[in-house]
Amino acid sequence: MPMFPEAWMDELLQKTDLVSLVSEYVVLSPKSGRLWGCCPFHNEKTPSFSVQPDKQMYYCFGCHAGGGAIQFVREVERLGFVDAVKFLAQRAGMDLPDEVDDDKLRRERQHKERLYMACKEAAVFYHKQLLTKEAAEAQQYLTRRGVDGKLAARFGLGLAFDTWDGLTNHLTAKGFSKNELIDAGLAIRSKNKEGCYDAYRNRIVFPIIATTGRVIGFGARTMKKDEQPKYINTGDTPIYNKRNNLYALNMQKGKHPQDLVMVEGYMDVISLFGAGVDNAVASLGTALTAQQAKLLKRYVERVYICYDGDAAGQNATLRGLDILAAEGIDVKVITIPGDADPDDYIRQNGRDAFLKLKDNANTLNGFKLNHIASQFDLHSADGRENFAKKACAFVGSLEPVERERYAPLVARKAGLSLDAVKAQCGLAKPMEANNAVKKRNTINKKREAKDTEPDRIEQMLLHAMQSSREGAAYTAERMADAELVFLSPGFAGYADALLVAFLAEETPDLSRLVAELPEDQAEAAARVMMEDPITGDVKPLVDDCINKLMHNRVNERLKELAVGMNTPGADRAALLKEHAALIQKLKQFK
Ligand code: UTP
Ligand code: MN
Repeated sequence: MPMFPEAWMDELLQKTDLVSLVSEYVVLSPKSGRLWGCCPFHNEKTPSFSVQPDKQMYYCFGCHAGGGAIQFVREVERLGFVDAVKFLAQRAGMDLPDEVDDDKLRRERQHKERLYMACKEAAVFYHKQLLTKEAAEAQQYLTRRGVDGKLAARFGLGLAFDTWDGLTNHLTAKGFSKNELIDAGLAIRSKNKEGCYDAYRNRIVFPIIATTGRVIGFGARTMKKDEQPKYINTGDTPIYNKRNNLYALNMQKGKHPQDLVMVEGYMDVISLFGAGVDNAVASLGTALTAQQAKLLKRYVERVYICYDGDAAGQNATLRGLDILAAEGIDVKVITIPGDADPDDYIRQNGRDAFLKLKDNANTLNGFKLNHIASQFDLHSADGRENFAKKACAFVGSLEPVERERYAPLVARKAGLSLDAVKAQCGLAKPMEANNAVKKRNTINKKREAKDTEPDRIEQMLLHAMQSSREGAAYTAERMADAELVFLSPGFAGYADALLVAFLAEETPDLSRLVAELPEDQAEAAARVMMEDPITGDVKPLVDDCINKLMHNRVNERLKELAVGMNTPGADRAALLKEHAALIQKLKQFK
């Protein structure tokens, strides 16, 4: 929400009571801890629209509309985000931010200015230290890694000497307070709370620069071979949040690149620039966020993901692909051979070799297919067959034009005739889970108003995931074992977001999480957020859901197989074999 200051938005939401807001449109009456009314977004006679006052969320069980106060105004008044906020501000009797003279806001802004200045001073300080005689070891380290003085200067690289107070003394002498250094992440408060000490010692320092050109944080790498952690990074501060920034995106200001290459690490970016590929940015080893994707979208239409060749890098690629595609970015995948990272690769093979990899980059669906293939042994007949089934289910879920394009690829890899592959693909029905770029249902288009049995089970599973870290981990694990994915729109995305949040912190802030989700996922989340956490052991509940869902899916598939067997040209033997395998599978899920 870039237009309105955070503190002001907080105040607005505090002053807006969803129940009284909704009551201006809907007659609400209480039942089992919630308020219920007839949904303003679809026609109905019996109330399925509910508001949960403590959570300040609404959700319609009929048409799945859901969210908080701002979403409600957007939908009911058909306003954009900014106008919806203005509408609520007027209703709450609040002045718009540029008209307010809010002392607190001004103080916050001044404090942030101080932090920006401290970071800038720190970057200059570290950079100057790198140029001193005493920095010989660091200079050699960088030279060994292919970074000469010019390249180091371009990225403002620096050195923190092996002292506890070098930067702290320098900045306090310049008039910065200890609290300012601590707030900026440059220093760490001592145990006795009196003093503080430098956050980075004996490390190469990489300033992180916002697209505004201001230094907002740092990464600092050890020069020792096996020291842990390898990098120390600025945590969240009033001026830096790693979820909202990309390393080196500032370098693209005013350059209008055709496309961007997104890598994992600081050194990958620097090496690519060093070799003359100067459209690289890094996500800094974290899971890509929707905000980062939006930021990229302001610069380019196309992004090449080029993560490390190892398994972690490839899994991050899979997640990143969907997040970028969901923002409407044309995304491609550069695969670095072996376990190397882009830094290693370009230093060993040069710019042209790298650009060749880029020219041969895979499409989103091509990459997903290869990923499916990597899970099977294509040298064995069984492996090829199992691959073919999974790949055809995937290809079958794509748009018809895309099916035409990918079916031959599957046929070639599986050693099957194109006809057989096409017949098998035709059996699969489009799966929502694969449509990353899904147009949201608007209130003009009639929403699907039915909640089917499998939907309810998926909802229960999400509920279990949301209840606790253990619940999330257990559910994800069980689903993976059973090869089950969420099919309801938005559920898979919300489940991923939950998992990531639980992994990153003990208890995710659900309302913040929802604010960051794409709309279809926010709806899924709103639906489930209405529920109170499950206390006690979720495992029996999850197991039960998995069994039911498995039965549901298998039975669906059995019906499809029955239809398929009566289709002319079908490979009856293959279908019969799958039939038998499914029956076998069902036995495991009693
Ligand atoms: P890598 O381990 O791939 O590091 O992590 P790298 O960038 O290739 O670094 P070199 O080549 O070993 O110097 C990718 C990114 O993940 C983050 C950093 O942003 C890093 O650039 N990371 C990694 C950390 O924040 N902390 C760590 O301990 C490791
Ligand atoms: Mn590396």
